[in-house]
Amino acid sequence: MKFLELIDKRKSTRSFTEKQIQEEDIIKCVEAARLAPSACNSQPWKFVIVRDREKKEMVAGAALSGLFTDAAGMNRLLREAGVIVALVNEKMKISARAGAVVKGTDYSLLDIGIAGEHFILQAAELGIGTCWVGWFNEKKVKQVLKVPKNLRIPCLIAMGYPKRDDETPKKRKPLDEIMSFDEY
Ligand SMILES: Cc1cc2nc3c(=O)[nH]c(=O)nc-3n(C[C@H](O)[C@H](O)[C@H](O)COP(=O)(O)O)c2cc1C
Repeated sequence: MKFLELIDKRKSTRSFTEKQIQEEDIIKCVEAARLAPSACNSQPWKFVIVRDREKKEMVAGAALSGLFTDAAGMNRLLREAGVIVALVNEKMKISARAGAVVKGTDYSLLDIGIAGEHFILQAAELGIGTCWVGWFNEKKVKQVLKVPKNLRIPCLIAMGYPKRDDETPKKRKPLDEIMSFDEY
């Protein structure tokens, strides 16, 4: 598949079949993430793959608790997904941390976003659907997964085989709205 075709194929999947994802395919996705660039090559990430059914239900329940109770059904996809991946933001190297303070930019969030997208694009190539989930009860999910208190989980990725092909064209801003040459 050509690169742009793959990019176009990747869409948020919110409805999954029961078909299980093979461990080797999950590992391919993590390998794609592992090769991602990061500020000072800090690689400030850990991918916690939740595939045990009972544990996965606990994570979905924790994610959708409290303020994040899913009244609108928006993130019910977490219950349907066969696998939930927690992207844990690990500490950056000292050089990247110093740079982040001086520049006032949290590079580790950029790093984890890039690595997460590598993961997701590899999944798309394998025909596996994914959805980023940023709206969830992070504190409760950390407890279930025994993530140290000082670390964050900025996002989850829900994974599974899509129930149906999504042929809807992507809604995106036009090129001329998002780019300019030579000045702002
Ligand atoms: C950081 C981030 C957080 C997101 N959080 C959620 C979420 O909590 N629930 C959800 O259904 N989709 C979530 N999404 C998916 C976006 O809604 C989706 O990517 C966007 O609408 C574009 O659609 P597409 O992914 O199908 O191209 C998130 C995406 C990103 C990148």
